[in-house]
Amino acid sequence: MSLLSSRFVTRSATINVMARSIEKACKGLVRDFNEVEHLQVSQKGPGDFVSTADLRVEKTLRMELEKARPTYGFIMEESGIIEGEDRDHYWIIDPIDGTSNFLHGIPHFAVTVALKRGRDIVAGCTYDPIKDEFFWAEKGMGAFLNDRRIRVSTRKNLNESLLVTGFPFAGHGDPEEFKEILGRVMPKVAGVRRFGAAALDLAYVAAGRFEGYWESGISPWDIAAGIILVKEAGGHVRDLEGGHEMMDRKSIIAAPEHFHAPLLDLIHGR
Ligand code: IPD
Ligand code: CA
Repeated sequence: MSLLSSRFVTRSATINVMARSIEKACKGLVRDFNEVEHLQVSQKGPGDFVSTADLRVEKTLRMELEKARPTYGFIMEESGIIEGEDRDHYWIIDPIDGTSNFLHGIPHFAVTVALKRGRDIVAGCTYDPIKDEFFWAEKGMGAFLNDRRIRVSTRKNLNESLLVTGFPFAGHGDPEEFKEILGRVMPKVAGVRRFGAAALDLAYVAAGRFEGYWESGISPWDIAAGIILVKEAGGHVRDLEGGHEMMDRKSIIAAPEHFHAPLLDLIHGR
């Protein structure tokens, strides 16, 4: 599929700029991923190669977005914050979300870009180049997967719900606390998954594939596009205190409205 145009839905100039930049940045990415599969068995391993691929994607995204909107700033996973003339608009970029999957030759990762205006995320795009799935949303316009409108799940019973989360890893988070949370959640739901790409976890909640997602210790670029995807798909997004400061508090829960309170209660053991 080409991200550049859509036969069935009209996209705004902002979404077109984002789609075009992502398409350009992804040009070599699938080839790089195939190369990683070969490097798995080499002596050197794929580590440095993956960092180069990551940086290349981020650089292309930055160049393309800057060309289209020269005054906007950037918040990027690899290169940090770059202020623009316009202090109200920032592109938030994670060039490869799901880096560990990519590094291990697991085909589940995404390029994700969001636009922040003031304190609000107003547009978000997450692209999985392996499955050719382009998730995109703009404030007030709905959420889409390629050409199709998406909505959060309509399942009513928590015991039928499939959830996704992020485990503590490599010194991040508190494994003991997480085990207690899982111990409370698992018996009440149909399943809990850990797929390793937060941007796709949120996109899948928006598409109704998962009923809910939660994680703490998460960075703004992991979740920015997903926040608007879930909201525009009719879901609720909060931090784990129940507030709206997901990016400042680095915690998030996203689900259809009716699952929010019961899931938060389970997570907090109330
Ligand atoms: C990570 C993934 C993972 C989440 C981590 C993130 P990265 O991003 O989104 O699912 O659990 O917290 O850091 O490192 O693959 O870009
Ligand atoms: Ca990430």
